[in-house]
Amino acid sequence: MCGIVGYVGSQSALDVVMAGLKRLEYRGYDSAGVAVPADGGLAAAKRAGKLVNLEKELLERPLPSGSTGIGHTRWATHGGPTDTNAHPHLDNAGRVAVVHNGIIENFAALRAELAERGHDLVSETDTEVVAHLLAEEFSASADLAEAMRLVCRRLEGAFTLVAVHADEPDVVVGARRNSPLVVGVGEGESFLASDVAAFIAHTRSAIELGQDQVVELRRDGVTVTGFDGTPAEVRSYHVDWDASAAEKGGYDYFMLKEIAEQPKAVADTLLGRIDAAGSLTLDEVRIGAAELRELDKVVIVACGTAFHAGLIAKYAIEHWTRLPCEVELASEFRYRDPILDPRSLVIAISQSGETMDTLMAVRHAREQGSKVLAICNTNGSTIPRESDAVLYTHAGPEVAVASTKAFLTQLVACYLVALYLGQVRGTKWGDEIRAVIRDLSRISGAVERVLETMEPVRALARSLAGKKTVLFLGRHVGYPVALEGALKLKELAYMHAEGFAAGELKHGPIALIEEDLPVVVVVPSPRGRSVLHDKIVSNIQEIRARGARTIVIAEEGDEAVVPYADHLIRVPATPTLLQPLVSTVPLQVFACELATARGNEVDQPRNLAKSVTVE
Ligand code: AGP
Ligand code: GLU
Repeated sequence: MCGIVGYVGSQSALDVVMAGLKRLEYRGYDSAGVAVPADGGLAAAKRAGKLVNLEKELLERPLPSGSTGIGHTRWATHGGPTDTNAHPHLDNAGRVAVVHNGIIENFAALRAELAERGHDLVSETDTEVVAHLLAEEFSASADLAEAMRLVCRRLEGAFTLVAVHADEPDVVVGARRNSPLVVGVGEGESFLASDVAAFIAHTRSAIELGQDQVVELRRDGVTVTGFDGTPAEVRSYHVDWDASAAEKGGYDYFMLKEIAEQPKAVADTLLGRIDAAGSLTLDEVRIGAAELRELDKVVIVACGTAFHAGLIAKYAIEHWTRLPCEVELASEFRYRDPILDPRSLVIAISQSGETMDTLMAVRHAREQGSKVLAICNTNGSTIPRESDAVLYTHAGPEVAVASTKAFLTQLVACYLVALYLGQVRGTKWGDEIRAVIRDLSRISGAVERVLETMEPVRALARSLAGKKTVLFLGRHVGYPVALEGALKLKELAYMHAEGFAAGELKHGPIALIEEDLPVVVVVPSPRGRSVLHDKIVSNIQEIRARGARTIVIAEEGDEAVVPYADHLIRVPATPTLLQPLVSTVPLQVFACELATARGNEVDQPRNLAKSVTVE
């Protein structure tokens, strides 16, 4: 999604804004632009393509310097990624500039209305109407914040808007509805951004901006009101991510760094949540024990990788709590009129906390009277703010578009919730729960061991760079792992990749098997549910007999798979339900290396954005 930065202070606004935009590059974008009120007017520059194009433009045609500015990286929804459609958009007199994230749904009517009043709109975007409306309102009130409030009341859809005006050169105004915007408060300077990553190099003090609020930013502080002008309560918080956490730290790609950070991310997510006696203390789950005992079902909503974490959580929740658990793609959820009531617990999983489909599912669930627990990685983001409770994952900033460490920490959080529900509800698995909590507290070391043995996986990936298709098979919790392996490969290597439940093979997919087709098989532990293990070993033989090249992920000591594995990837032995924490890691490494071998951009795959803030 797009990135927005705004600044008022004493530094060069252009430097701060451009550096901030760089930190938001991970959000995915197709063009970029900046605007600075200076010398009584407004200077702006914008270019289609990567930020470097804008940097070149600014070198060739420098803007006058100023200490107030706004910047934007665009991810086009209305009109192609051209210089003209890039943000900021200005009014005809060139006095006001606005940047926008989201979609103004009623822009066509507003555009027609403006055209009738003689405005000349030059872009194809929905955003441009806002610049013209702001100009009209400003000419009446001479107050940019008031103009913004009046305009916002006329807009429908999802938007973060940030604007500057030549007549108020020391002010930046922002507004938000259904779209992210955070405020940073420094010494004699203030910031606005889509994400704290844009300003943590300057300040760690942040303010959550609520739904339908307008913020006026000045050097000496900020004023927040509702769209109707009512002063709003300002809640600030400390950002504990450090700036270097959002840098590559010596790795070629953020994704490699984030894969390597997984042992720490997993350990950090467990930190403080298991007490000395081996019980769980999830204070953040502010839903009372009595209420948790009353539940009669759990519904998980999420998208993409987070959805796969939810699919795995279902096995754990149903097994440890005996509560029925449904898992649904957030984008499908509210449209099928799901059966929900106060006895349903809805768990929304989202790394960014800004995914629009998931947010809409959360709102729908709350409207039906269900309690919503968010599992989220981004402090202060919209989904946790709109939920009844939140369990934060402590993965730190995840910059690469392809989710890795966030996924592992989402799994940890899901296990914690499942075990906690089991503990609170006192299911018959008490002993198993205590044993799993012990295993979970050691799992970070197992993830570390997997990472130490990845060189053969990289070599294998490179050798498959010319292939067109890779299939993934799994059973039980290995099935969602197969789906996740396929998703990673699609988004990074742009290859045809599909995940199947191994038991479904004979119901159709086996027809796809042909000579030398790579098939990755995630094998469950031979201990525990050994019947599943034996069945999947048969599946491996079936596909190998038909020519498949078998790439087998199996736990250390599992000798039964050896004769049928063309390539064998070992992972440490773990309890069955926890196996995804180790078996996913080789699939991440595999996809990352294949993408590199195919010359693809690892951190910013084509057509994708880090968080999808439109439905
Ligand atoms: C993961 O690799 C993807 N880029 C994507 O599927 C992602 O997990 C999904 O968009 C959900 O994002 P969220 O966790 O921020 O809600
Ligand atoms: N809808 C706007 C456009 O197409 C904003 C897109 C964005 O969020 O970057 O220009």
